[in-house]
Amino acid sequence: MTVRLDLNGLLAGTVGAQGVAPEELEALAPELDQVRRALAERRAQGGLVLADLPYRRADLQGIVRAGAAARDRFDTLVVLGIGGSALGAHALHEALGNRDGLRVVVSDSIDPGALRSLLGSVDLQRTLFNVVSKSGDTAETMARFLIVRDRLMREFGAVDYKDHIIVTTEAQRGSLRQIVNDEGFQSLTVPPDVDGRFSALTAVGLFPAAAAGVDVEELLAGAAMMDERMRAAESPLGDPALALAGAFRLLASQRAKHIVVLMTYAERLAAAGDWFCQLWGESLGKAVDRDGRIVEHGQTAVRARGSADQHSQLQLYLEGPRDKVVLFLRVEDHGEPLDIPAAFQDIEEVACLGGNSLGALLNGSQRATELALARRGRPSATLVLPAVNPFTLGQLIYLLEMATISTGWLAGIDPFGQPAIEEAKEFTFGLLGRPGFESRRAEVEAWVAGKDPRFII
Ligand code: PA5
Repeated sequence: MTVRLDLNGLLAGTVGAQGVAPEELEALAPELDQVRRALAERRAQGGLVLADLPYRRADLQGIVRAGAAARDRFDTLVVLGIGGSALGAHALHEALGNRDGLRVVVSDSIDPGALRSLLGSVDLQRTLFNVVSKSGDTAETMARFLIVRDRLMREFGAVDYKDHIIVTTEAQRGSLRQIVNDEGFQSLTVPPDVDGRFSALTAVGLFPAAAAGVDVEELLAGAAMMDERMRAAESPLGDPALALAGAFRLLASQRAKHIVVLMTYAERLAAAGDWFCQLWGESLGKAVDRDGRIVEHGQTAVRARGSADQHSQLQLYLEGPRDKVVLFLRVEDHGEPLDIPAAFQDIEEVACLGGNSLGALLNGSQRATELALARRGRPSATLVLPAVNPFTLGQLIYLLEMATISTGWLAGIDPFGQPAIEEAKEFTFGLLGRPGFESRRAEVEAWVAGKDPRFII
């Protein structure tokens, strides 16, 4: 059950000048080795907590217990979060959830209609709300928390409503932690040194997964196995995360591939595509390098669903600008086969389908797309999952997280933090009238007042 990285689709021998020659990868090996050593050193000094998440047994026990308790009492879990506090949970749940556990709904929208319709669709008596915010201050999450809290208080009274809320936030910091302490909600913790987009393997992703009946021990075992594989690799190119980072770095810097398309060939992995877009975009999109020089670095991540997007986006990928590399997620075994019955033997296009399984058609479509791209000199790589299960998902998440960090380190930027998004948050607080943010409100008002009406058409 090992997840494998296949780089054949991006080699120069496959796609010509737009690809990477094996010698180029070999030449990058010393730099990759430096990245490996720098990250290992940082990890040894406690500065890469996310790399050790697969081994946090104490946290896991509390999460598993809370998941079991939730399953005993409720039948729906609504997760209220945003960004890294929603996308990892959604990816895990879509891939693995809905077996014997709770129905999980991950809500990351402040569209009033969406929240109203969500609240109207659940039986509050049987619903638990997981309010997730690492900082504990995010307006979108806190606003929905206040609305849900009010609704629950009116339904169950000022004491019993608390049984319907479990909070996931940092242990020592933030408004949400203060509220937990004051109100006495049940709570789980997020380690302080893990950015939201790297928190899928903390309580942020694991609690909803455990509540949905996912074997979270297996998930972490998969992540640990990938970590051990990486550490045991004799050369950096034997480590799938470093090899992916090296190849994508060369494609970005030497072949101007400024877009990476994650193309998933399994519906259960589609939400992992959204998770990856945040991981790659927020980690690698940085104005300055680690020495403070302006670099405006980044590679845009886009997600596509196979085979549906072969009929929507593929034309562009095959004939449009040569600015993309495609990363396929392929699944060898889609579970119990769904066979296509043989019929209409006299119509060749239809007759050839009969006797195949739908999974074979899906995987055939992936292979065909890989080759069609290669024939046109368009590079791709493929991550192959033997099947979608907790063990392979754990490997995939760990691999992509470490590949993201390694790519950033190789490019000389800091993949952690998201300094630029703070400004928009401050403008929002200004508009909402938060004390101390008056000048931010004035800036927004000046911007709106200064718009040239001739160009509002
Ligand atoms: O990756 C990140 O750190 C961000 O995308 C956060 O996850 C997002 O802004 C939500 O933050 P919080 O969990 O503090 O509410």
